Amino acid sequence: MLQKFDPRNENIQVFINGKLYPRDAARVSVFDSIVQGGDGVWEGLRVYNGRIFCLDKHLDRLMNSAHALDFKGIPSREDVKSAIFQTLQANQMRDGVHIRLTLTRGEKITSGMDPRLNTKGCTLIVLAEWKSPVYDQSGIRLVTSSIRRNGPQFLDSKIHHNNLLNNILAKIEANFAGVDDALMLDQDGFVAETNATNVFLVKNGVLQTPTAVACLPGITRGLVMEIARQAGIEVREGRLSVVEFYTSDEVFVTGTMGELTPVREIDGRLIQDRTKKGVLARINQIFRLKTETEGELIP
Ligand SMILES: Cc1ncc(COP(=O)(O)O)c(C=O)c1O
Repeated sequence: MLQKFDPRNENIQVFINGKLYPRDAARVSVFDSIVQGGDGVWEGLRVYNGRIFCLDKHLDRLMNSAHALDFKGIPSREDVKSAIFQTLQANQMRDGVHIRLTLTRGEKITSGMDPRLNTKGCTLIVLAEWKSPVYDQSGIRLVTSSIRRNGPQFLDSKIHHNNLLNNILAKIEANFAGVDDALMLDQDGFVAETNATNVFLVKNGVLQTPTAVACLPGITRGLVMEIARQAGIEVREGRLSVVEFYTSDEVFVTGTMGELTPVREIDGRLIQDRTKKGVLARINQIFRLKTETEGELIP
């Protein structure tokens, strides 16, 4: 799975701190915290059928992440929403769009780690691109990474931050293994998530996913559990080993960028569906309906 340049994104306008810039002129300062220390938080959102899907949930997570990192001068929710709307309107985007929303600690007066050097408030970036879901819907292949996913003892994964190097190292392992993504374990060897998505298994009709200890509490993950419960499917969160994934009937990953995608192989083991209950297909049908009918209307 390697994304390609989409020529429709050649002339997009990017929002940075109150102004829209053409793609090639969209830059932040070398003094920005994102350059100096990856000191930022972010969200990936999708636009379907004239609506921004789960906008408020994404803004809740962005605001909570910024608060946890003690950012100063955080823009209001209304300002962030207005920036997103302005960007989509300027690009005439209403469907098939992915938004990368970034909030950094802002510019520093001189290079250095200390947040007291940040005196100008946050930097807000809205990057909206034409982008279809990124994974092959016939199923992806995973390899277990040697890099562990951060838990609260190091850097709590409940902060959706831009320090992505452990995920990137895991992705490099997946690239060398010639597969799509990497499965990351927690410090005790239980499955956390992949380098870019949350992960679910189905065994005998029961939907299971790792407890959100060392994984991002994904918005798609939450929605999938809600949909399943409403559809009468039993849902369990717990500690799951890689072997439990190898021997499941269905495995799938979830995330805004790639939606719901089946996993067909982990570490060379094929996922063999013995029960044919079609749990992913049932959930996916309801998910698809929600993306078409729910979300905040773009004015
Ligand atoms: C590491 C990781 N896991 C899971 C997800 C999926 O989260 P969501 O469903 O909120 O897009 C993301 C998305 O940013 C991610 O970076």
